[in-house]
Amino acid sequence: MVPIDKSIAQRCAVLGLDFDKSIIGEDIKNTLSAAKAFADYKRDLVLNLGNSGTGMRLLTGFITGSGKECTLIGDESLSKRPMDRIAEPLKGWGADIELREHKFSPIKINPSNLQEQFIYELKIPSAQIKSSLLLAALSSKTKIEIIENIPSRDHTERVLEECEADIRREGNRIILDGKKDIVKKYIDIPGDFSSAAYLLAANILSKKTNRLENVGVNKTRVAFLEVLDQMGAMVMIHNHSVKSNEARADLVTSHNDELQGVTIDGDRIPNLIDEIPLIAVLSMFAKSKTIVRDAKELRYKESDRISLLLSNIRRFNPDIEIKEFDDGFEIEPAEDKNMEIVKIKTGGDHRMAMSFMVASLRSGKKVEFDDMECVETSFPSFFDLIEKWYQ
Ligand code: S3P
Repeated sequence: MVPIDKSIAQRCAVLGLDFDKSIIGEDIKNTLSAAKAFADYKRDLVLNLGNSGTGMRLLTGFITGSGKECTLIGDESLSKRPMDRIAEPLKGWGADIELREHKFSPIKINPSNLQEQFIYELKIPSAQIKSSLLLAALSSKTKIEIIENIPSRDHTERVLEECEADIRREGNRIILDGKKDIVKKYIDIPGDFSSAAYLLAANILSKKTNRLENVGVNKTRVAFLEVLDQMGAMVMIHNHSVKSNEARADLVTSHNDELQGVTIDGDRIPNLIDEIPLIAVLSMFAKSKTIVRDAKELRYKESDRISLLLSNIRRFNPDIEIKEFDDGFEIEPAEDKNMEIVKIKTGGDHRMAMSFMVASLRSGKKVEFDDMECVETSFPSFFDLIEKWYQ
């Protein structure tokens, strides 16, 4: 019911690990076909990652480490997202990479040899940068030590551990020696917590209790549950188990009365980053103010998630008071007096479309989207499921 975890699946795709591919979104499909084309390497290879930032950043690391030449391209939105964040550390390690305007894709990877050892302190708390470097060490059979001061999702470390790589964590350092080959195993991928989050919110806003089975509950992904708790909505965790080195469980929302506003900032942000549009939507129906800060990374996602989110909230209910900051926002909820149809601008961003679909469940207000197909990247059955369960 919830699609498999997009982050884990794309790591498996790059590493050539087997997993259940029966129901997958466009991002995973694009990363799989790019990784396969790279495995059957031919000269003048151009790989198209579509909308997948994870695919592009992870493959750039992996391909750079291999020493081969390759060009990576993406769709219009991906072509506007910063790629210097991975190119710069890789260049510091010895890579030869060219970017359009020193920042964007196409990414031209020229043949190079990475130094035997590299130590890198992450400047942005990003799992994609961390993973890109780990994959480069693996494919170049070199050693990397990454200093991670603010933790981000750890799926790459876990899948490498599961496949018996020489990887360990010492405090805030992750050390991988790529000389040891991995053992290619079948990976049992749980449901995607970030997709499940929309259904949890839908349950909360429509006061339903649909059970979501086999959802990934890796500790670096579930900070949203804490936020829900703070807002006054409880989620119960049943049938907890671990398979393929990843925790999973069934999630059931329990009854909630009124939602309260929250303040979210600092080190909590990376583990919540994909759920922030949804938190903003929940906050529209709370009784008090919500504040999000230290989240400038939202501006570099599939859309500028701060500005687009706030403009859509204004369209949804113009009485809501909003303050926009460079790194976040403040939302003061207000009663919704207007039941006119709202036209949502998605910017081609799946999380924007899903967030406002969920908002409409509470208010009963009709929403129209300029693009409904964008949900195909992560949650192809989303609109059908909403119709089946909530309407
Ligand atoms: C992801 C990491 C996060 C997240 C993205 C998926 C990953 O991005 O927003 O949806 O699979 O590693 P950053 O690493 O850029 O924060």
